[in-house]
Amino acid sequence: MENLTTQVAIIGSGPAGLLLGQLLFKAGISHVIIEQRSAEYVAARIRAGILEQVSVDLLKQAGVDENLNKFGLAHDGIEILTNGLKHRVDLSELTQGKQVTVYGQTEVTKDLMHAREAAGLCTYYEAENVQIHDFEQNPYISFQQNGQSYQLRCDFIAGCDGYHGVCRASVPQDKIKTFEKIYPFGWLGVLADVPPVSDELIYVQSERGFALCSMRSKTRSRYYLQVPVTDHVDEWSDERFWDELKNRLDEESRKNLVTGTSIEKSIAPLRSFVTEPMRFGKLFLAGDAAHIVPPTGAKGLNLAASDIAYLSNALIEFYLNGSEQGIEEYSEKCLKRVWKAERFSWWMTHLLHRFETESEFDHKIKQAELSYILDSHAGLTTLAENYVGLPYEIKTFNEMQSSHSDLLSH
Ligand code: APR
Ligand code: PHB
Repeated sequence: MENLTTQVAIIGSGPAGLLLGQLLFKAGISHVIIEQRSAEYVAARIRAGILEQVSVDLLKQAGVDENLNKFGLAHDGIEILTNGLKHRVDLSELTQGKQVTVYGQTEVTKDLMHAREAAGLCTYYEAENVQIHDFEQNPYISFQQNGQSYQLRCDFIAGCDGYHGVCRASVPQDKIKTFEKIYPFGWLGVLADVPPVSDELIYVQSERGFALCSMRSKTRSRYYLQVPVTDHVDEWSDERFWDELKNRLDEESRKNLVTGTSIEKSIAPLRSFVTEPMRFGKLFLAGDAAHIVPPTGAKGLNLAASDIAYLSNALIEFYLNGSEQGIEEYSEKCLKRVWKAERFSWWMTHLLHRFETESEFDHKIKQAELSYILDSHAGLTTLAENYVGLPYEIKTFNEMQSSHSDLLSH
């Protein structure tokens, strides 16, 4: 058995864990990441690709924005296609100049992994039998790697280990409450090296179901189709996928669509899920370990980033001036933002997807709601303000340092 110590033990090296590690490193706080998968597996995972401005700012603060600045595509608007007609939602005009950035989560993960490698920070990949202990009082982690057993003592544990992780599962049932909604369909996603059908994302509401035209770059497209959750990816040849996508598009988009061989194809189920609270003594849950949103609102990665913004603030303030305020407030602050993003993602999902169970009346009401939103300045503003990301207050490292100096000088 090898004994290790650190200030913060981070479980999971998805975007949440990696971003937290980078922010703690910048603030001079020691940490270790423990990840059950290999580095190659983590770097290859394909996920969504829209960053809110606040997430971009946080990546900049973490010093990992070089590729993002070079290859990220700033978008001022999105299109919503319904009844065969496209409606542009001018995000920037409706939100006083805010934008979103198209940049794949896979790239965010790789940039963070490279920064970590360059800084020589410690990650235990392919860790087995990871267990967290005594997190109310004297936290420590036990795990094995390459046949060697480790015990890692720490001040805090950051549970960034995703929906299936060990951290949330280790909390006694009577201390935790979860809220869940499972949708009766999934998203079939295809990645292809073809130019995107349009300069902006197109969210498609059609009688045949939802579709989304997204992109990773000017030469790489990401498309999705709503499909029954029982469908298997093998049932969807590339040809069938493109044919069905065309069926859901308007004439102009159908004409402009460039098809090609898929380089990735998968079906993801849709789920809304929230855990309350998000802190248990010295254990913090962050990102998918605490909540899941259906991808319709593009909020998954952004919510993980806002959790990490609050958590890094709380930990840095604690180590800088001994304040426990951020730690005490972590769960409440996160959940306030989480529930708003959950509501938005649920609403977008309901509005744009076809539900087998909906009556003709329900369907008409939904059409009327969509028509109202798209015709009303107030409706469009509501959509835009949520899509670009609701604002939240965090301090920069410099602000925390200057409040620390103020504290010392009094
Ligand atoms: N021990 C160690 N690591 C674990 C364990 C465990 N028991 N269980 C899971 N992990 C690892 C996973 O292998 C994964 O690399 O934790 C990591 C969690 O990463 P993500 O699932 O990417 O979660 P998170 O970092 O919160 O990122 C949230 O991912 O799913 C999207 O929409 C979501 O965009 C959002 C983002
Ligand atoms: C994506 O590009 O993968 C993407 C974009 C917007 C969404 C969901 C996924 O709402």
